[in-house]
Amino acid sequence: MHLQTGTSHRNNFLRGGILLTLENLSATFGQKKALSKINLKVSKGEMLFVTGASGAGKTTLLRCIAGEVEPTKGRVNGPERNVFISRVFQDLRLIQDLSVWENLRLSFDSLIYKNQKEFSEEAGQLCSFFSVKDRLNDKVMNLNGGLKQIIALIRSLLSKPELILLDEPTSSLDTESALRVFEILEKFNEKSGLTCIWATHNRDLVKKFNGNIAYLDKGKLIYSGHACFI
Ligand SMILES: Nc1ncnc2c1ncn2[C@@H]1O[C@H](COP(=O)(O)OP(=O)(O)OP(=O)(O)O)[C@@H](O)[C@H]1O
Ligand SMILES: [Mg+2]
Repeated sequence: MHLQTGTSHRNNFLRGGILLTLENLSATFGQKKALSKINLKVSKGEMLFVTGASGAGKTTLLRCIAGEVEPTKGRVNGPERNVFISRVFQDLRLIQDLSVWENLRLSFDSLIYKNQKEFSEEAGQLCSFFSVKDRLNDKVMNLNGGLKQIIALIRSLLSKPELILLDEPTSSLDTESALRVFEILEKFNEKSGLTCIWATHNRDLVKKFNGNIAYLDKGKLIYSGHACFI
């Protein structure tokens, strides 16, 4: 598979070194401790699964990294200010009564793409990789949950992030399709050093993963390291 990721300045990101560090990170909502004293390092170009049961704190961890939730204690060091972060939210945030293509076009940014043609080529290629090219004219409201997730992911990749935060991006897909999505992201990772933090409670997916995971339980980081040891 050949992935064309374009010529954006955002792709000149080097692999290796630490992208971000969570230091003693705690987050509380009222009386609820969502995260408690998390210490974690994420390297540039790493693909990390954040896993754990429902309510373990995965989304809160991503939201702290994205700067949406202020830690009650501790901190998130990095990513550097000029690192471009893109998020795929659990609620996807697609515009339901627009078509797939109209939703994707919202990612056009003249700072990233020379012109509409370059954008369209990139979008077309991504849609081919994810096998959704024949759905471009469909209204998002008519797609199933799995397809909506793919479209949200493509939209996010079109903004050529250096760090992508994915919150249960394949929860409506079976494990095989989720793995296919993961493989495509891995190609991006190889090509452009994309750092990927993927929150999921899908144990089957995590079991098949040959990389690092962070395992949360009731807001505590129980394990971080290679998936094969869990
Ligand atoms: N904005 C909020 N206000 C109050 N409590 C919250 C808020 N966000 C999260 N929580 C609580 O913090 C805990 C962790 O929630 P979080 O959404 O991070 O878990 P999660 O691992 O993403 O769960 P899921 O797998 O269901 O998505 C839960 O008990 C949740 O109810
Ligand atoms: Mg969540």
